[in-house]
Amino acid sequence: MKVLVTGGAGFIGSHVAEAYAQAGHEVVVIDNLSTGRLENIPEGVRFVAMDVTSEELRELFEREQFDVVNHHAAHMELRVSVEKPLHDAAVNILGSINVMEAAMRTSRPHVILASTSAVLGEMYQFPADEEHPAKPIAPYGVSKRAVELYADYYRVTHGLTITTLRYTNVYGPRQNPFGESGVMAIFLHKHLSGEQCRIHGDGSQVRDYIYVSDVAAANLTASDHRLNETYMVCTSTEASVLDVVHHLEHALGERLTVEHGPAKAGDPARTLGSYQRMHRATGWKPTMDLASGIVRTVASFRK
Ligand SMILES: NC(=O)c1ccc[n+]([C@@H]2O[C@H](COP(=O)([O-])OP(=O)(O)OC[C@H]3O[C@@H](n4cnc5c(N)ncnc54)[C@H](O)[C@@H]3O)[C@@H](O)[C@H]2O)c1
Repeated sequence: MKVLVTGGAGFIGSHVAEAYAQAGHEVVVIDNLSTGRLENIPEGVRFVAMDVTSEELRELFEREQFDVVNHHAAHMELRVSVEKPLHDAAVNILGSINVMEAAMRTSRPHVILASTSAVLGEMYQFPADEEHPAKPIAPYGVSKRAVELYADYYRVTHGLTITTLRYTNVYGPRQNPFGESGVMAIFLHKHLSGEQCRIHGDGSQVRDYIYVSDVAAANLTASDHRLNETYMVCTSTEASVLDVVHHLEHALGERLTVEHGPAKAGDPARTLGSYQRMHRATGWKPTMDLASGIVRTVASFRK
């Protein structure tokens, strides 16, 4: 298959591109390198510098006749989205419409969209599945939810095959340590640079952390099964920030220097998803436990 991965110079997109290439597919990456890095692009993958919102996107689709378009390019800083909702909407909503329009008007590839459990807002049914009400509480969640609704439109009205994958908190090698989320990457970078790590609040807030290779595998599974719905991609296990610190210290063999700051307003107390729909449809399930995933992440950050 010929596969386009948008945002393939970024954290998750580069793992997805690598997984497709390793499975023997021809892979093209587009990225504007706003947060992504050229060195993240895997061997054997063709790179085209392009903004996902640009008019040239349609020409690329016409030229290449993709079979699958895996859309990971996005603005993904929740708190920046509060400061700059126009920027967030321009990249996430308009960029995604641009992708689906180009798909519809060219080779009609299977489209896979990277969505997020942030579309749900504050979770109150645990574990949250695809039926959980979606009431996002920040512009980032709103823009991602809007894209899901556009996907419904392109599916129903234009018959495109579109998979929407809602990830919880993804972690692993190549995660950007300079973002606001990604506690493992942030703490590892700070620790290895001799700096203090700051926990917002008492560290009891829990998250459903999923290792990036499990997310890449979910994307390949979605292509293989031509899934045409929305699926949670998560582990259905939860860990607190203090648990993460404990695992990091164990993997590093050293103590982290930690300080506590005020809790962040709007930070949900608990996120926990259910991957049962994805499992029933395809057999996919996460394979990496948190302790082992953190050991691998530490090893890659040390390099
Ligand atoms: N990291 C997580 O925990 C998480 C959780 C849920 C969903 N997601 C989603 O997964 C996707 C990838 O996130 P990530 O963590 O790898 O972030 P990332 O910032 O590492 O990757 C995003 C990539 O998109 C590129 N990009 C941004 N704007 C672009 C544009 N206008 N045109 C072309 N390229 C552009 C960036 O340069 C970067 O390489 C995003 O859609 C994000 O919303 C991530």
